[in-house]
Amino acid sequence: MNILIIKCIELRNFRNYDNQIIYFNEGNNNIYGDNAQGKTNILEAIFLCVTGRSFRTIHDDEIVRFGQQSYYIKILYEKDDRENTIEIESDLKRNREIILNQIKVKKVGELLGKLNAVLFCPENLSIIKGSPAERRRFLDIIISQVKPTYFYELQKYNKILKQRNILLKEKIDYNKKLSGIEVWNILLSETGKNIIYDRMDFIKRLNKYVALNHRYISNNNENLIIKYIPSFKINKEIEELTRSDIQEIYYGNLKKNIELDIEKRVTSFGVHRDDFDIMINNSSVKVYGSQGQQRTAVLSLKLSEINIIKEITEQTPVLLLDDVMSELDSTRIKLLMNRLGDIQTFVTSTEKINDNHLLNEIKYMSVSNGNVNTT
Ligand SMILES: Nc1ncnc2c1ncn2[C@@H]1O[C@H](COP(=O)(O)OP(=O)(O)O)[C@@H](O)[C@H]1O
Ligand SMILES: [Mg+2]
Repeated sequence: MNILIIKCIELRNFRNYDNQIIYFNEGNNNIYGDNAQGKTNILEAIFLCVTGRSFRTIHDDEIVRFGQQSYYIKILYEKDDRENTIEIESDLKRNREIILNQIKVKKVGELLGKLNAVLFCPENLSIIKGSPAERRRFLDIIISQVKPTYFYELQKYNKILKQRNILLKEKIDYNKKLSGIEVWNILLSETGKNIIYDRMDFIKRLNKYVALNHRYISNNNENLIIKYIPSFKINKEIEELTRSDIQEIYYGNLKKNIELDIEKRVTSFGVHRDDFDIMINNSSVKVYGSQGQQRTAVLSLKLSEINIIKEITEQTPVLLLDDVMSELDSTRIKLLMNRLGDIQTFVTSTEKINDNHLLNEIKYMSVSNGNVNTT
């Protein structure tokens, strides 16, 4: 197993950072300080280099330091015993530039899989409690990291979906509309089948780990399983399905629901409406789980995210823990830390965290008003 290590990050005009280089430890890093000092901003910058997107906003103008025109992030990381760099420069007047090992790339997709990370923050509870869109986002982000072709399929799907919806809203002759929609049905089922297939396959693989992690965390008391819920019925398990089976079902459903779509002027079924459910001992955690169970379920999910990234990429991801130390009790923190193994962590907290539970060495950094100091 290759261990991924972020060596340092440089931030210029990023959020409340003016010009800062931060060197990290290869084991654990604890970034601590009072509220609103810039702890999460550091994790945000790392995450931006992982996915090309912030986990807080889609608007770069919110990220650029107040009063400035552009921001710059550079990460130096070690992977397969080699040093690599990722640079992101965003000028509000021009497009964003992504530079990998000094070479400018054209698409965000090329960034995916270079640097993998798992982010764990209090807002993750929305994977359980939030809308289906939040669960889809969770899936889409991890699958894109381990399988960049998935990301391209998603982009393609969204473009086709947009075209189909535009046509559904258009005031044109009914028959003309029908024949136009038919074209989009074919294209949509072609890409849609790949997305469903990859999601179902991914969840199947994730379930293996989620079950184990959750048993461990719940002291063998609970069985956790994730179920994919397509917006239209697929009556078989993923093992029994081929991609072309799914395409057929997909296409059939689009066709069957044409009248409904025309009436509602929007595409009612498809991967953009799919969901998944997390079940503990056969009942939905979202509906029946206690607060504690919901938190533990997220923890199991996050641990499993690490496992699956390791399995698929043969690389460890880095782990970003934002403010979760106050969320989890000390038993859960110990369980978490013991189960991590050799993985670089970035932990933010208001107080210095206790290093008793840690197997690896820890570096402490205090943050105050956009300034980081090693302590
Ligand atoms: N674009 C920006 N320019 C300057 N400062 C910003 C910008 N966006 C956020 N901030 C500041 O960053 C701070 C919040 O940083 P954050 O990392 O979320 O804090 P915490 O240490 O609580 O995690 C606040 O003081 C906020 O005003
Ligand atoms: Mg914070």
